[in-house]
Amino acid sequence: MFSHLVPLLTVVLATISSVSAVWPAPQSYSKGSSVLYLHQNIKITYNGAFLPYTYGYTAQGLSSKEIVQAAVSRALGSIFDDKFVPWMLKRRGELAKFEPDVYKGQRWLETLQIVQTTEDKSSAFKPLAGEVDESYNLTLGTEGEVKLTAVSAVGILRGLETFTQLFYQHSSGTFWYTPFAPVAIQDSPRFPHRGILFDTARHWFSIADIKRTIDAMAFSKLNRLHVHVTDSQSWPLVVPSLPELSEKGAYSPAQTYSPADIEGLQRYGAVRGVQVYLEIDMPGHIGVVAESHPELIVAYDAQPYYWWCAQPPCGAFKLNNTAVDSFLEKLFDDVLPRVAPYSAYFHTGGDELNANDSMLDEGIRSNDTEVLQPLLQKFIDAQHARVRKHGLTPMIWEEVPLHWNVTIGKDTVVQAWLGADSVKMLTGMGHKVIDSNYNFWYLDCGRGQWLTFENGEAWDEFFPFNDWCGPTKSWQLIYSYDPIANLTEEESKLVLGGEAAVWSETIDGATLDGIVWPRASVLGEALWSGRKDAAGQNRSQVEAAPRLAEFRERLVAKGIGAAVFWQEWCGQADGMFVCPG
Ligand SMILES: *[C@@H]1O[C@H](CO)[C@@H](O)[C@H](O)[C@H]1NC(C)=O
Ligand SMILES: *[C@@H]1O[C@H](CO)[C@@H](O)[C@H](O)[C@H]1NC(C)=O
Ligand SMILES: *[C@@H]1O[C@H](CO)[C@@H](O)[C@H](O)[C@H]1NC(C)=O
Ligand SMILES: *[C@@H]1O[C@H](CO)[C@@H](O)[C@H](O)[C@H]1NC(C)=O
Ligand SMILES: *[C@@H]1O[C@H](CO)[C@@H](O)[C@H](O)[C@H]1NC(C)=O
Ligand SMILES: *[C@@H]1O[C@H](CO)[C@@H](O)[C@H](O)[C@H]1NC(C)=O
Ligand SMILES: *[C@@H]1O[C@H](CO)[C@@H](O)[C@H](O)[C@H]1NC(C)=O
Repeated sequence: MFSHLVPLLTVVLATISSVSAVWPAPQSYSKGSSVLYLHQNIKITYNGAFLPYTYGYTAQGLSSKEIVQAAVSRALGSIFDDKFVPWMLKRRGELAKFEPDVYKGQRWLETLQIVQTTEDKSSAFKPLAGEVDESYNLTLGTEGEVKLTAVSAVGILRGLETFTQLFYQHSSGTFWYTPFAPVAIQDSPRFPHRGILFDTARHWFSIADIKRTIDAMAFSKLNRLHVHVTDSQSWPLVVPSLPELSEKGAYSPAQTYSPADIEGLQRYGAVRGVQVYLEIDMPGHIGVVAESHPELIVAYDAQPYYWWCAQPPCGAFKLNNTAVDSFLEKLFDDVLPRVAPYSAYFHTGGDELNANDSMLDEGIRSNDTEVLQPLLQKFIDAQHARVRKHGLTPMIWEEVPLHWNVTIGKDTVVQAWLGADSVKMLTGMGHKVIDSNYNFWYLDCGRGQWLTFENGEAWDEFFPFNDWCGPTKSWQLIYSYDPIANLTEEESKLVLGGEAAVWSETIDGATLDGIVWPRASVLGEALWSGRKDAAGQNRSQVEAAPRLAEFRERLVAKGIGAAVFWQEWCGQADGMFVCPG
């Protein structure tokens, strides 16, 4: 389709030589135009000691050296394996102009010198926000020497991701080169918490799907995978002391996560600098527990659902019931010690609790918030005490402090989703916040209704069957959002970052990649590089688009089914042909 809104353009293409498309944008970056080739025999050192490059090496333990060695293996392996020949980024017939002549004066990268300036603390691979320094410096000299310096092993991981993005494969075969030497990069993240909320209850996802998501997160310098592991719809989490939960609550016996699965995912994340932490949402969003423990739950599958909850099937814990408390003691004593070695946080949910549910609770029979508030306070206090007892930091949804006026500890991280005003209020109250503003960062939105409507009144009311939070959040919209835009300096300091939400009502393993990528990478840049550039100006979509286009091609080359976001023609000529609007 053509657009009727194409203004006359100032044509800028002539002066653009070549985008060096690092995504997310480094804080400071300079490059030249000399060519260097990469060979599998490149000599690698880590803090002065020789580090062998073994193709496919994976870390067995969580030592810094193993993690760095595995990251080097992945980085070099991906340059050699991805076969990324960037024809789609050059104008027709112009790839040859961009590519160096492989038969003339090849200069090779000689050494990759990796220096980590401090020893990692024991919490390095399950840090609280801000506990690990992810900064790195990367230089490539024209004589073929590469130096990567970082304070932590995680910083080295981030620098290696950048390193891989400097290279292309030559169209004539097995040559890998960068045309950008000399390179000097200084880089560090703007926000320490850069994540994805991943819902495994509306749909179950295979371990392979989740690992692929972690891979793409690491490529994008995202560092937190928040697994919303249960909800009213299903309970895939195997809890050995309460086996009936998943036996009766999973969609099928195969659609579960064993303790070994969870530990495997957490370790897989940890070696990639991605902390995997769990949420068990409560006291609402937990109806499925009624499949095995009906005595603990009210309003499961109650009708019409909209009197009792936000979407079917409803269901909440009874708020004044000692059996619920004993159940949660057992649940937390089982789950928390197993996740604590690999995560700093545990999220106890707390969103969208509907006061009406307690009308159906024979122990309460009220929907009066004055009656319910003290019960909820007690409930939250008890669960957060359990989280802390196991050495974890509680996380919670914004409604608990803002709607219910429940007092929570200052250690607690509050996840906001209802907008910038919530972030302002929460930080104003002194709370640490991560932002998942649904108007910008909900990736599930804008893809149509999943509820179905009878002909007649309901049909008429809901035509043309949009979902609640459409339209789709385009990458440009995601990019435009600055979670600290209207905050004071004091308030801004309390914003730890944000998460893109992948609620999975209409997402499963078959459609996952194209919905999440590259839009979550755009959140990655908004949180790593920041909404504003070094000069304090808003970052430009027009500058970002060709870099994103290249990054998307790199994701696809690595087996991530990332979506296209413009027509192929725009991407050629480094995106600078005519597609700026
Ligand atoms: C990167 O270089 C800057 C400027 O020389 C220096 O201040 C900083 O400490 C370096 N960072 C690392 C991780 O080496
Ligand atoms: C609670 O239920 C009543 C009907 O009994 C309904 O009118 C009201 O909208 C419900 N409240 C909420 C918040 O859903
Ligand atoms: C909660 O339960 C206790 C003990 O059964 C009872 O005394 C109290 O009235 C209940 N609270 C409410 C608000 O129903
Ligand atoms: C409580 O229930 C009454 C009667 O059903 C309803 O009118 C009211 O909206 C409900 N309050 C809340 C907070 O849902
Ligand atoms: C929380 O406090 C606000 C402001 O004081 C009040 O409007 C609101 O009704 C309270 N909510 C509850 C659930 O008590
Ligand atoms: C900041 O405030 C302005 C003016 O009230 C508003 O238009 C804008 O949406 C706000 N931005 C954010 C990110 O809150
Ligand atoms: C920067 O972007 C924000 C939205 O993120 C917008 O409100 C503001 O007007 C922009 N500033 C300039 C100078 O374009």
